[in-house]
Amino acid sequence: MKTKFFIASAVALVTIACQKEQPTQFEVASPEGVNKISFSLENGAPSYSVTHGEKTVLNPSKLGFVFKNADSLNTNFEIAGIKERTFDDTWEQVWGEKKEIRNNYNELVVELQEKDEAKRKLNIEFRAFDDGVAFRYVFPEQGIKDSIFIMDELTTFNLKDDGKAWWIPAYGEQRYEYLFNNDPVSTLDTVHTPLTIESKSGLSLSFHEANLVDFASTTLAHTEGTTLKTDLVPWADGVKVRTTESFKTPWRTIQIGEKPTDLITSYLILNLNEPNKIEDTSWIKPFKYLGIWWAMHIGKYTFWEGEKQGATTKHAKEYIDFAEKVDIDHLLIEGWNKGWTPDWYKNAMHQFSFTKEADNFDLEEVTDYAKRHNVRIIGYHETGSNIDNYLKQIDSAFALYNKVGIHDVKIGHVGSLLKMKEWHHGQFGVNYFRYVLKKAAEYHLTVLFHEPIKDTGERRTYPNMMAREGARGQEYNAWSDGNPPNYTTILPFTRFLSGPMDFTAGILDVEVKQGYPGRRVHSTAAKQLALLVTVFSPIQMLADLPENYEGQPAFEFLHDVPTNWEDTKVLNGEVGEYITTVRKDIASDDWYLGSMTNEKARDFEISLSFLEEGATYEAKIYADAEGTDETHNPSSVAISTKEVKASDSLNLHLGASGGVAIRFKKID
Ligand code: NOJ
Repeated sequence: MKTKFFIASAVALVTIACQKEQPTQFEVASPEGVNKISFSLENGAPSYSVTHGEKTVLNPSKLGFVFKNADSLNTNFEIAGIKERTFDDTWEQVWGEKKEIRNNYNELVVELQEKDEAKRKLNIEFRAFDDGVAFRYVFPEQGIKDSIFIMDELTTFNLKDDGKAWWIPAYGEQRYEYLFNNDPVSTLDTVHTPLTIESKSGLSLSFHEANLVDFASTTLAHTEGTTLKTDLVPWADGVKVRTTESFKTPWRTIQIGEKPTDLITSYLILNLNEPNKIEDTSWIKPFKYLGIWWAMHIGKYTFWEGEKQGATTKHAKEYIDFAEKVDIDHLLIEGWNKGWTPDWYKNAMHQFSFTKEADNFDLEEVTDYAKRHNVRIIGYHETGSNIDNYLKQIDSAFALYNKVGIHDVKIGHVGSLLKMKEWHHGQFGVNYFRYVLKKAAEYHLTVLFHEPIKDTGERRTYPNMMAREGARGQEYNAWSDGNPPNYTTILPFTRFLSGPMDFTAGILDVEVKQGYPGRRVHSTAAKQLALLVTVFSPIQMLADLPENYEGQPAFEFLHDVPTNWEDTKVLNGEVGEYITTVRKDIASDDWYLGSMTNEKARDFEISLSFLEEGATYEAKIYADAEGTDETHNPSSVAISTKEVKASDSLNLHLGASGGVAIRFKKID
């Protein structure tokens, strides 16, 4: 790993406004000075505010905690110490949307101590980056023998201006699986993060958290005016966080951009996570995969044993043959194990076995066959959220995967941890998901969580954390009214800011002719190709049925497009409207472009200045065919080639809910 390392005491980092007795105001600015956090202690109460250039982002906002059996920790403080430093480090991702990430910030640590007898200490660490700001609380060890029960975190985000907030509700039964709404901040209830806000001041903001470990997730509750407050997801008994001796909160993060696309290439969340803890990462590899999956969602096959059973040895071999033929090296097989029934998801305490095969399915026969055909099987564990049942079997289940040469596992949590009387996003759920991730690392298994908790950048510390669902994925198109055309143009500016999602794109038969009547994918096929570039995940499913890929020239793009990138640039985009992204392959000189739109047809002139100057590329363009849109010939993809250089521009036409995908292959 290449690191450029520089730590120094930052001269003039902190401005001290001298008052009569003790300085009570401190400021830290980002390296280029654009973002500033000001801390202030007035009459013993701490607060902070944030500016971006001349614009105020947050007016003075509150800090502190409420405990059970102890006084609140939010007043009566004095400043016991101030620390400052500058940090500048460039680190390499094991895999990612960009290989080298610069982590450059100025830090201010305010050490507070109560003035009264208890004299409790609380440190607040502020970091100012050029792409946003962050802070966390550190409650240091201070001889407290009793357990600590946090009943509330008092942090507020007192927005100077109202703005358009792209939100989904917190505490919903479907966890993160909701369509986004956009409404003024001043009208919100309690919402999930990341919360993207297009501020009336013209700034693009994203509120989230980073490095969520052994703590409750935060949601954001609207309190008054344009103020949001952290609302920690509680345990069943109402306690928000239980701990002993000391605690560190996750980082409270605010990414700040001049335009919405700036948020997408901000790496602040990753920078606030701990460096990689897995020494040997040679077993962690990005991939694309096919699946015995879509067929179950559209009703062609069943998850359970019977006439239409999807996971049979016979089907598995057919899919392996197809995967080998089209050179896609991974295959997911759902429903391979005992326990699947038509109403498995209705029973709160449903018992799956994670080691016994379903009838008609022979795991070793399938994995051996796959090995001989250069295909890797992805394991699947659907817990049904009965995690007691899962945790009892987890070691034997992972050991079985090791035995048969499975290296990657998808782990689902349909239903909700409320079955265990706990929320997905409470400290209980946070600890469960981290436990499973670390356990998988011990067994050298990469992980894909479905029905997960939100991503807060774990992939930096545990790069076997490949992707997760955590939004309404493609499957909603199979069995519900589906995701409307603007949905995929909202996700890159919202859900994807937290990390990779397993969206499962690549459906070419968007009308889903073999599916349930009236159900379909609300896009053109070209937009499905574009999604492989506009959204990032190190693992991407090519979700359609083999028969829908057979003989389709557009499949070539799905085959070629990588899932691991050296660089990413977002060329244009507006939340919920359109987006055009280009990425450079990590393993070649090739660039890929994805452009997609909501229900409006659009034309773009795209400058190719991102290409290497002077080089010639063959652009293979996969676009909506003439007259194609969501409702007219939606599966029709026009393929053309053209020689281009960095000095050229391309005119792209996107039909309604359409898209364009391009491979730029360097030819000299
Ligand atoms: C929901 C998941 O998102 C999907 O991928 C999976 O196939 C089903 N649950 C069955 O477990």
